[in-house]
Amino acid sequence: MELAGKTVVLGLTGGIACYKSAELTRLLIKAGATVQVVMTDAATQFITPLTMQALSGRPVFTSQWDSRIDNNMAHIDLSREADAILIAPASTDFLAKLANGLCDDLLSTLCIARDCPLLVAPAMNRQMWGNPATQRNAAQLRADGIVVLGPDSGDQACGEVGDGRMLEPEDLFEALAGFLQPKLLAGRRVLLTAGPTFEPIDPVRGLTNLSSGKMGFALARAAAQAGAQVHLVAGPTALPTPYGVVRSDVQTAQQMYDRVMADVANHDLFIAVAAVADWRVAQVAQDKIKKSGDDDVPQLTFVQNPDILAAVAALPSPPFCVGFAAESGDLEAHGAAKRRRKNIPLLIGNLGPATFGRDDNEVILFDDAGQQRLPRADKQALARLLIAEIAARMKTHRPS
Ligand code: C5P
Repeated sequence: MELAGKTVVLGLTGGIACYKSAELTRLLIKAGATVQVVMTDAATQFITPLTMQALSGRPVFTSQWDSRIDNNMAHIDLSREADAILIAPASTDFLAKLANGLCDDLLSTLCIARDCPLLVAPAMNRQMWGNPATQRNAAQLRADGIVVLGPDSGDQACGEVGDGRMLEPEDLFEALAGFLQPKLLAGRRVLLTAGPTFEPIDPVRGLTNLSSGKMGFALARAAAQAGAQVHLVAGPTALPTPYGVVRSDVQTAQQMYDRVMADVANHDLFIAVAAVADWRVAQVAQDKIKKSGDDDVPQLTFVQNPDILAAVAALPSPPFCVGFAAESGDLEAHGAAKRRRKNIPLLIGNLGPATFGRDDNEVILFDDAGQQRLPRADKQALARLLIAEIAARMKTHRPS
């Protein structure tokens, strides 16, 4: 569970977006976090402390004078074990208070008294957000090192349309989960390929493979969480784009090659996760190939696709290149040989049938020092581990 051992103080202030914080709490709890909910009086008008208690599994605090804390200092004690405080929704009034150091209730007082990072997710009407006073306050909060998440743009509860919607619970979860990860790739630019490719035969048929894209997408997410600027070039897959990742969709190996070669300059790291088709049909039929008789079998001629990873690795000053090898057996022998052939510092080997489409994977790392097997793990957890392994190797890598 990616937030196991993390404690988050979730503060709710007055706003209709309070209902989204119920879902956010559920997501945080599901990820293993401890969630301590603190609500202002106004927030309790929108959602009950009972609901938030049931979802977080902990009593909710609303009053500065709550006597449940032994030393009666809830404003100090509640944040001392926290890894972060997230205020969601953060009202216009609460942003103004924070920007000016005011504290007249439990939540504002514990924010002033905090010794951990503070993130706020503004939620308000578009005019309230656009008001120069609110913009001034938001700028002041950023200058004070407070992370302002969003707001989003779109339909508002009041019926108007514009900036001021609170980020969706899934986005807030992603922003917070990313914030809590170590910044092993801070300032780095990362390019990845992921998923299968699709090589057309005619307008309705084509060749593809069983790659789901899950491992590549998990690595893109983990790289973004590690503080990198991430561009993901994806073959056909229905997976959602990871939070904070820029995505380009392509279909064929040639399109993937073109996209990567156009963008690879100025990147520090290239991770080729895609299961790229080795061959494509030489002549794609303009019209659907018709079956005319019982013995009628089309004769397809293939040509080789460009090897994207090899091409990037052969650039005059290549980024740190990581390849994947999906084998069907004897991974140890194939992996080491493939790494040498591709001339890359790190190759991650896995068995195709034991990874394609699955949520977990088992890999072997091949590098100059030899090989290292990582235990089978969930692809998200594995991706974080792999990013740590890659970041460590990038630090000491000397281009050959
Ligand atoms: O040679 P093989 O296809 O097994 O190598 C796998 C590695 O090379 C993967 O990292 C894959 O993304 C990359 N590759 C590529 N372009 C190709 C074929 C494979 O980038 N045409």
